[in-house]
Amino acid sequence: MTGVTGQVGSALISRLSRFGTVIPADRTVIDLSAPREIAAQLDALAPDIVINPAAYTAVDKAEDDRDLAFLVNETAPLAIARWTADNDVPFVHFSTDYVFDGTGTTPWKESDSPSPISVYGLSKLAGEVAIQSVGGPHLIVRTSWVYAPSGTNFFRTITRLAREREELRIVADQFGAPTSAATIADAIAAMFGSPRGISDVIARDSGLIHLAASGTTTWYEFAGAIINCLQAKGHPLKVTRIIPIAADDYRAKARRPLNSRLDLTRLSLAFGISTPHWLAGLEATVSRVP
Ligand SMILES: NC(=O)c1ccc[n+]([C@@H]2O[C@H](COP(=O)([O-])OP(=O)(O)OC[C@H]3O[C@@H](n4cnc5c(N)ncnc54)[C@H](OP(=O)(O)O)[C@@H]3O)[C@@H](O)[C@H]2O)c1
Repeated sequence: MTGVTGQVGSALISRLSRFGTVIPADRTVIDLSAPREIAAQLDALAPDIVINPAAYTAVDKAEDDRDLAFLVNETAPLAIARWTADNDVPFVHFSTDYVFDGTGTTPWKESDSPSPISVYGLSKLAGEVAIQSVGGPHLIVRTSWVYAPSGTNFFRTITRLAREREELRIVADQFGAPTSAATIADAIAAMFGSPRGISDVIARDSGLIHLAASGTTTWYEFAGAIINCLQAKGHPLKVTRIIPIAADDYRAKARRPLNSRLDLTRLSLAFGISTPHWLAGLEATVSRVP
């Protein structure tokens, strides 16, 4: 498994070890910016399944770092897909709501046409297309608004700022489901634990799957919920006001979708998995904040 130092990768490690030996392939073992080495590295590791939560995830930086974003998010997954197809090994890859342009208010289905509005989104979509074009056994798990008690994420930023500032200005016109890395890892572990086994699950249901917490909110409401949860757990905070702002007033380099809602019907019907509400994921995460 790649990306073991990341939010999703580290949550997966702790949950998947009961299904077999997890080989933690951090960037010293498999460097996704050197895709030509990947086939030989996988030959040496000889995994029964490849899980790739590693990615170039710096959304704003990607606008100026296009080549590296595409190398890590497109060329490297392509190399993994070729190796896994050649060796008939299932490949679990992760992708993002940022493949969509964010128009409308309807949750995006797997069958909807992607149309990214950022370099990061374009590079992630290119990775999806590359894996699909190889045609080996694969599952591309699109998720959204990922956070964890560690790492760089919105939850951690709000937790820090709420201790430092009296007033926060938070985007209130982007809609989605904040999804804890634990929620993602629990769902993937449920696939591994299914009576059919993960290989059969992927062989029969190869393709795209949307996986996020249930429910919908905005960054503004999410920030309010984080602060309420922290206060309820007795964390001393300085913040007294949260002001809703428009995404256009938050000067980020990359554009982000206004509508990031993901339709979870396929997750439920094909995989029998329902995810907890985003608020439940938040409460579980806050309970792990020191
Ligand atoms: N974060 C989100 O909000 C979000 C939302 C939707 C979808 N996703 C997708 O979900 C997946 C997991 O995201 P995450 O939030 O867990 O990411 P993350 O916390 O940013 O972790 C990224 C991981 O990728 C590794 N990595 C980056 N460049 C690499 C390279 N050249 N070679 C090898 N490893 C490299 C990092 O290793 P180092 O620690 O060594 O840098 C780290 O382990 C990704 O596919 C991402 O696109 C994320």
